[in-house]
Amino acid sequence: MRLTFTIQRFNPEVDSTPHPQEFRLDVGRGTTVLDALIRIKQECDGSLALRYSCRSAICGSCAMTINGSEKLACRTSLRKELERHGRITIAPLRNLPVIKDLVVDMGSFWKKVRDVHPWLTGSREPQKRYGATAQLTILPKDSHFHNVDACIMCGACVAACTVHEVSKGFAGPAALAKADRFLSDPRESSSATRARLSALQEENGIWDCTRCNFCVEVCPKDVKPMEAIIRLRRASLERGMTMTGGARHILGFTDLVEQQGRLNEAIMPLKVVGFAPRGLLRILPLGIKMFLKGKIPNPLGHALPGLSHIQALIRRVRRAAPPA
Ligand code: SF4
Ligand code: SF4
Ligand code: FES
Repeated sequence: MRLTFTIQRFNPEVDSTPHPQEFRLDVGRGTTVLDALIRIKQECDGSLALRYSCRSAICGSCAMTINGSEKLACRTSLRKELERHGRITIAPLRNLPVIKDLVVDMGSFWKKVRDVHPWLTGSREPQKRYGATAQLTILPKDSHFHNVDACIMCGACVAACTVHEVSKGFAGPAALAKADRFLSDPRESSSATRARLSALQEENGIWDCTRCNFCVEVCPKDVKPMEAIIRLRRASLERGMTMTGGARHILGFTDLVEQQGRLNEAIMPLKVVGFAPRGLLRILPLGIKMFLKGKIPNPLGHALPGLSHIQALIRRVRRAAPPA
């Protein structure tokens, strides 16, 4: 079949902004997007810049935006894309600086991964349990990495992340998932885990995620970074790290639902900022706006009928796991 490919081009040496360019190519039914891009480079325009290596969904280097969503070009079938979208558009990963055409600068991505210290620290306990070689080995029954160790560092989740889009300092799904991998490692000491979690309470850490789920949707390796972030939050709450706005929001939300059967927007801000005058002043304009729009319910409003059922549910969930 003869297909038209619309590829976003950008050469910083000559272009002031990115622009689309069309290429036409005869391709077979089993062709991947990467196969087609390599042929376009070989047969149509040798200046097209793209990054790839393994061609087998292993190295993570060919992640790009295909028909509007983040994918590995080497495992994306042209036929399926055409059936789903009726066209083939290809652009670099979003929200990362473009070096040229489809190649982005992954420097900030790698710095964030390094910042979560992706190595074992302060490990002593395993030697006591398993002997002197325990530092180097891990017993299958003790490994609960939740598939986080399948990450190939392709950057697709970071490009799709709605928080990273507006706040480039956000640690991001890949780095936080990497932190969770070490949280789940029985060889790390409890004090080291505490220090690791403590560092993630800061601004741009685990509480900045909005749980939009995009990182889960685009990940080609089913790592589910958002679920890793929820595990990190849960572990933080279990260790009494409850002073951040995010932690207080979650605890306040569950308290209110437990007491009244629903969220009460009149009380919720107090649960998050407390009674600190500076915090109250900061939320005052929002409170006035909500009041004028009739969005603030009676703070002493009656509890919902059937509250005891809701409370029983919450107690049951709490027994299984704390909120996060
Ligand atoms: S769930 Fe959180 S980390 Fe994942 S894409 Fe959304 S905001 Fe980013
Ligand atoms: S978590 Fe998934 S999408 Fe994110 S870098 Fe790892 S493999 Fe890629
Ligand atoms: S070329 Fe290695 S993952 Fe696609």
